[in-house]
Amino acid sequence: MIGPEDVRAAAGLLTGVAERTPVRYSRALSELVGVPVHLKCENLQRTGSFKIRGAYVRLVRLSDEERARGVVAASAGNHAQGVALAARLLGVPAVVFMPTGAALPKVDATRAYGAQVVHVGSSVDEALLAAQEHAASTGAVLVHPFDHEDVDAGQGTVALEVLEQVPDVRTLVVPVGGGGLVAGMAAAVADRPGVRLVGVQAAGAAAYPASLAAGRPVPAAAMSTMADGIAIGLPGTVPFELVQAHRVAVRTVSEEDLSRALLHVAERSKLLVEPSGAAGVAALLADPQAFASDGGPVVVVLSGGNVDPLLLMRVLRHGLAAAGRYLQVRVRTVDRPGALAALLQDLARLGGNVVHVQHLRTGADLGVDEVGIDVQLETTGPDHCAEVLARLREQGYRLAP
Ligand SMILES: Cc1ncc(COP(=O)(O)O)c(C=O)c1O
Repeated sequence: MIGPEDVRAAAGLLTGVAERTPVRYSRALSELVGVPVHLKCENLQRTGSFKIRGAYVRLVRLSDEERARGVVAASAGNHAQGVALAARLLGVPAVVFMPTGAALPKVDATRAYGAQVVHVGSSVDEALLAAQEHAASTGAVLVHPFDHEDVDAGQGTVALEVLEQVPDVRTLVVPVGGGGLVAGMAAAVADRPGVRLVGVQAAGAAAYPASLAAGRPVPAAAMSTMADGIAIGLPGTVPFELVQAHRVAVRTVSEEDLSRALLHVAERSKLLVEPSGAAGVAALLADPQAFASDGGPVVVVLSGGNVDPLLLMRVLRHGLAAAGRYLQVRVRTVDRPGALAALLQDLARLGGNVVHVQHLRTGADLGVDEVGIDVQLETTGPDHCAEVLARLREQGYRLAP
């Protein structure tokens, strides 16, 4: 099992390759949790995520003969970019299998680093099978995204930097997919008993909690999350052993928690993160008390920032709705000229900014003399939403459930 010295050796290999990413203090999260909270900005890393660390350490340790055979990887995007850049820096040919739905900017960036991209299947697990077959048939070296000690030692270098940047850190909060990042970080701080690790998975694709309960890697019961980077069906053997040995606690967050976190990081810290990269902040927002108990600074890893702008728009809208900043309501009112204009005026007086209106003349829930008006409003938050609903009812509008 790898330990702090392996991670320190990996850090030596990464000098001049990986950025030492900044740590930012978050006043908003510190006030929420009650202890200082810092964000470790791996979203500002080269390739937009921590993945260059593990990929480069794995590739630089290949023999000349292995490098000549080339490398193959499978990834939803971040590992792909890490492998592609590492391969380019070392002059190694790379083929990357990506699920067909992989985010376009991640695919483009991987190609731009010079790797050959092959689309296959609908999940990273399927792409991984294809990459394994490719390795077996061509002799290329498979660079697994998390199930290899060199990869995990490389990812663990994030924790070494944190120990220097926030020397009194007590809790590290880390997004978890296959577990390479959290396992490497656990190995890095194995000689620091005062530092606790909390892993975070998306509830819709969480293999770790059941695996830790069973004492062995168990497939996730479901695979449904917008956080593509952490949507992994089965923990890796190498990281699972480290996670178990270092008693990493793994929590889950909902899709609402993720979108709210992405919005929070953008709005309060002025940082762009992808849904997987926001998982740690999502856990703090969902249950701040759970992170106060150690009494010392919390460092949350923002593990990646490669978000497709189209997804970003949807997630921000979702985050605004989850934060009570959008109100969607169906109003039933009498079908007479001016009814729609009157409703819009009433909403304007209540300070709601209408962003969408649909006027329905027929519907099973509407009487013959009624119309339904679906409105979507921007509000200032949950209290404003409640006030708008209460005042509409007071004014005699009937609101559909
Ligand atoms: C942004 C981001 N965060 C976290 C992870 C999880 O890493 P691991 O599979 O090592 O747990 C990934 C993996 O791709 C990722 O892309």
